[in-house]
Amino acid sequence: SDSIKVALLGCGVVGSQVVRLLDEQAEELAARVGAPVELAGIAVRRPQRHPEVPAELLTTDPAALVARPDVDVVVELMGGIEPARDLLLDALKNGRSVVSANKALLAEEGEALAAAARESGADLYYEASVAGAIPLLRPIQQSLAGDRIRRVAGIVNGTTNFILSAMESTGAGYADALEEAGRLGYAEADPTADVDGYDAASKAAILASLAFHTRVTAADVHREGIRDVTATDIASARALGCSVKLLAICEQVDTADGPAVSARVYPAMIPKSHPLASVSGAFNAVFVEADAAGALMFYGQGAGGPQTASAVLGDLVAAARNRVIGGRGPRDSAYAHLPIQPMGEVRTRYHVNVDVH
Ligand code: HSE
Repeated sequence: SDSIKVALLGCGVVGSQVVRLLDEQAEELAARVGAPVELAGIAVRRPQRHPEVPAELLTTDPAALVARPDVDVVVELMGGIEPARDLLLDALKNGRSVVSANKALLAEEGEALAAAARESGADLYYEASVAGAIPLLRPIQQSLAGDRIRRVAGIVNGTTNFILSAMESTGAGYADALEEAGRLGYAEADPTADVDGYDAASKAAILASLAFHTRVTAADVHREGIRDVTATDIASARALGCSVKLLAICEQVDTADGPAVSARVYPAMIPKSHPLASVSGAFNAVFVEADAAGALMFYGQGAGGPQTASAVLGDLVAAARNRVIGGRGPRDSAYAHLPIQPMGEVRTRYHVNVDVH
């Protein structure tokens, strides 16, 4: 049968692993999809930096690649708002399915992207945008679709968790732990998005939107990073039997005016007896609490090339399979457009009750 053609936008840490896995697992993926899955092209900024991929696939013109009539699925791993936003809106409007790992874009423009997908009937998948390898969005969006989710809370940024874990285990200060994270390849050259909580806030926005069938953008999320956490803070927490973790917390809360959403990211003290306290290094862990299901814990590697590529390929297989069988991916449910609760009204501030009932 005809092959499924994939346009890959971006070929960094994750993209190069997607290319590798597509090649190494070509036969298995073809069997699962029902057709071979082939790269139509790979858009990068500097082709000379990618000796590992076939040179004939490389292009510096992502718009031309996305516009090619033979492209079925666009896999976006560029990051950032533009040009990713325009490229993906064009792709969706033209009926191309989209797989994206771009949390900043999904958090800010998720509504516009979902609307474009709905109008053309194309698929939009973004499992890799939150918590790397951990299956989290599909369980929230599909497996728990018949339940009422009350809270999603956990550690969704590996870099800051690595830094806080290092501070706790060695007594190091923030600056030294950040340097160590950089040396080991966890923190990026510009770690602002991680250490100031922007990355976690984007992920919280995506999680809250799916969990509560509303739209929460990154700007709606109360955000504090870990820059000001000192060795003394960590030692004081330890004296109280606690660890300090950067938590993302999304809750549906009942207010006098009806239901609202609270979404917040900040360093919190967690009792050492809580499972989240023992999540160390670059791992992520997220609790989802729903009325009927009770508490569920998702745990695994939230960053890294092969790990994030696993989530991307899962989405790609789903999107490619839908092209073959004429199926459709998950669609948005009707939105409640819940108001955002101001942070001042949240009772639990730094010492968070994260008990699992
Ligand atoms: N910078 C992110 C993290 C990568 O540290 O978790 C995964 O989104």
